[in-house]
Amino acid sequence: MKYLFEQGKPQGKKLLLLHGTGGDETSLLDIARFLDEEATLLSFRGTVQESGMNRFFKRNGLNQFDLVSLEEESDRLIQMITTVSEEKSIPIEEWVIVGYSNGANIAAHLLLERHFAIKQAILLHPMSLGVDTQEFPLSDKAVWLSVSENDPIVSREASNQLIEQLKNRHVSVTISATNSGHQITMDEINQAKKWLSER
Ligand code: MLT
Repeated sequence: MKYLFEQGKPQGKKLLLLHGTGGDETSLLDIARFLDEEATLLSFRGTVQESGMNRFFKRNGLNQFDLVSLEEESDRLIQMITTVSEEKSIPIEEWVIVGYSNGANIAAHLLLERHFAIKQAILLHPMSLGVDTQEFPLSDKAVWLSVSENDPIVSREASNQLIEQLKNRHVSVTISATNSGHQITMDEINQAKKWLSER
């Protein structure tokens, strides 16, 4: 699995970046550097190809998720995060995930469905993947996420479903509402930056 690692300052955050469909390991770098200019960055490229676009798991059409691929790719991603974290001597719990769209969706899946040490995530325009098989409490986790009224990919129901799943499991959830469709706005990045700086 391709990834990019950039060592930051010791006091900087540790940001783990997961791009949206069609992105790569460079897509979220500017946003991450804006979130914390001193951050250490670890950014993965999704291994699934869809008409030349990188993704973190397969789908069979818009929002028709391949749940077998989702589990396989979740295993792969956890393995890679663990390996790189060990190599770089970074405790896994120090990473804050920054995921957009497809990257945010696999990030939420890791938090909800796997016993995984990462405690914080910034999820830009995520949605529920409709998988809800676990019950262990997640009261040590905090998620900031953005939703948009007029998102053509993420319906109100799908974002609400994810929020409900997180809250049911006692995740501390902070929601930022935008009305710019599926696009990332400066306003939401500023709000995410503030949230991150307070942690
Ligand atoms: C997904 O496939 O994960 C969502 O539809 C978001 C996206 O289009 O990447």
